[in-house]
Order: sequence, then structure tokens, then C-alpha cells
Amino acid sequence: MFIIISLAIIGAVTVAYIIFDSFRSVIELIVSHLTPYFLPQDVQPLWKKYGNWAVITGSTDGIGKHYALELAQKSINIVLISRNTDKLKSAAEEIEKYGVKTKIIVADFSKGIEVYQHIEDELKDIPIGILVNNVGVQYEYPMPLCELPTAKAWEIINVNVVAVTTLTRMLLPAMVARGKGAVVNVSSGSELQPLPLMAVYAASKVYVRNFTQAIRDEYSPLGIYVQHVSPLFVSTKMNNFSQRLIDGNLLVPDAATYAQSAVHLLGRVQNTTGYWLHGIQYFFIKLAPERLRMRIGHHMNKDFRNEHFRNTKLKAQ
Ligand SMILES: NC(=O)c1ccc[n+]([C@@H]2O[C@H](COP(=O)([O-])OP(=O)(O)OC[C@H]3O[C@@H](n4cnc5c(N)ncnc54)[C@H](OP(=O)(O)O)[C@@H]3O)[C@@H](O)[C@H]2O)c1
Repeated sequence: MFIIISLAIIGAVTVAYIIFDSFRSVIELIVSHLTPYFLPQDVQPLWKKYGNWAVITGSTDGIGKHYALELAQKSINIVLISRNTDKLKSAAEEIEKYGVKTKIIVADFSKGIEVYQHIEDELKDIPIGILVNNVGVQYEYPMPLCELPTAKAWEIINVNVVAVTTLTRMLLPAMVARGKGAVVNVSSGSELQPLPLMAVYAASKVYVRNFTQAIRDEYSPLGIYVQHVSPLFVSTKMNNFSQRLIDGNLLVPDAATYAQSAVHLLGRVQNTTGYWLHGIQYFFIKLAPERLRMRIGHHMNKDFRNEHFRNTKLKAQ
């Protein structure tokens, strides 16, 4: 009898943990929306909590550009880093309409370690309070490893892995010295399991997740907030291989909708999908065992690959 009761308790605790772990993103999102009503003293403006300058990588398009616009509306000055000068100038102009200062830095993260000295020199006199490691690159379309040009694999690793590591390493010491600061690392739902036909991209995001969670344990005792943001599909040019993703829908928001929700969660939750409907999808995804998730991901990518080839063929006709 004792053994049966013990097993029943272990089973119930395990199930409760699995459900909580899967549903955590949605629970945290609900709590973050309710906190201002019940604990208004806990809700400080971001500039006061972390400082009034943010650096955002990959900020000329998609999620990064809208992070910049959202933060500017919260009175944060923005340093934009991307590779295209014209796009940087035009994004900075848009951001300055909110009455904040901007600085642009041209850097192509695919070049690897050589770009960072220039960034460090440009940032040395700016007290950066928030670092948003957003920049990321994806496959042109889903493909097996031997179809992926080696240069593209290096680009993904340099942009998705080396940039987040090097910029965090560069900017953390000054935050630690000030005793406050926020590091926001944008990963991806593809971190949840190995992802056939996007093997290198998904593996790079596993790095982002583990790196983020480990440095949080190292630096949160020193006053640094480290957030892990893991979006599912967002309608941006990254997903150009699928018209369905570019068109978007309730589950695939545009970058503005996504960033508005994600920036609301900055400083409030530590691990998040950033968007409530992604939180619900995440719940159902996590219920399946990893092997099954991988097979579903593989199937989904085969479907996107076929769509890409169909569309390319149609355009060529
Ligand atoms: N969209 C999604 O469905 C999705 C889902 C999960 C996670 N994410 C993650 O969210 C982040 C943002 O993605 P996104 O969809 O917003 O991408 P995006 O629309 O393709 O924008 C990427 C941004 O990064 C810049 N960039 C690209 N390569 C660069 C390089 N080598 N050096 C410097 N800047 C570079 C781009 O500049 P240019 O304008 O010059 O190209 C652009 O500003 C990424 O980390 C991505 O992995 C996206």
C-alpha cells in the first residue's frame, strides 16, 4: 500500500511539473500583465531599472527593428548595429521620432571575430544598460547538411553563436560595475529539439539557450537580469522560403505585434516565448516526447522545402 501511494505521489508531482514547465511561458505572461494592478511599486520604467541606452543587434529589420521602436517609446536611447548603412540610417530616423538619441554602428557579424574591436571602440563612452542580442540568420530554405554551403554554415555560427557570446562578454563588465543591466538573448523555438533540414540553425539556438541560462546563474546575484526569449514563427524576411509564413496569421504574428509583446515582458520574466499564442503552442509542443517533436519538425520542414521549390518554379515560368 505504501509503495502504491508513494508511486502515485511521484506520478502526480511529475505530471504537475511537466504541465507547469510547459505552460510556464503563458503563466508568466499572465502574471506580468497583472503585476501592475496588484504590485504597482514593482513596475519601474526600464530606463530607471537598467539605464537609458540599449544596444540592439540586427536592428534594421524584423524583430530587432521593432524591439528598437518599442524601447524608444519607453525613453531608451538606441544603438543600432547591422550591416547596411542606408537601412541603419533610415531605421535611426524612424526611431528618433520618439525623441530619443540613436547611434549607428555598421558591422557584418558574418565576418567573425574581426568586427568586435570596432564595435567596442564605438561603444566605449556609452553606458549601455540593455543589450538585445537579436541578430540571427537562418537557412535560405530547409535543406540537408550536404546541400548547405560551408560558407553559410560558418555565417550561421558567426552570427547566431559568436555575436551573442562576444557582445555579452564585451558589455557585461560595465553592467556589473554599475550593479545593474539587462541582457536579452533571442533564441528560437527550434532550440526545443534537433531539427532535420535546419540542423545548424537549430543547434545554434540550443547554444543560445544554454549560454543564456548559465550566465544568468553567474550574474543575477550581481544585479544583472538575463532574459531568454524564444519566439516561434514570426512573419519576417527570415521566413522568405514560405509564403504562408510571410502572410502570417494569429499564430504567426508580424514583427511589430511580436516585439510589442516581448518588450512588455522585458524585466518581468526570465524565459519566455515572448507572445501569448506562442506560449500556448509551446505548451502543446513540449507535451510530445523529443523524438516525436523531431519527426514532426522534419515533416514540417519537408513541407516548407517543397513549398519553396514550387514557388521558385512558378516564379521562373
Ligand atoms: N522570424 C522568425 O520566425 C523567428 C523565429 C524564431 C526566432 N527568430 C530569431 O529572431 C531573431 C530576429 O529574426 P528576424 O526574423 O527578425 O530576422 P530578419 O527579419 O531577417 O532580420 C535580421 C536582422 O539582422 C540583420 N543581419 C542579418 N545578418 C547580419 C549580419 N551578418 N551582420 C549584421 N546584421 C545582420 C539584418 O540586417 P539586413 O536588414 O541587412 O538583412 C536584420 O536587421 C533571430 O535571432 C532569429 O533567429 C526568428
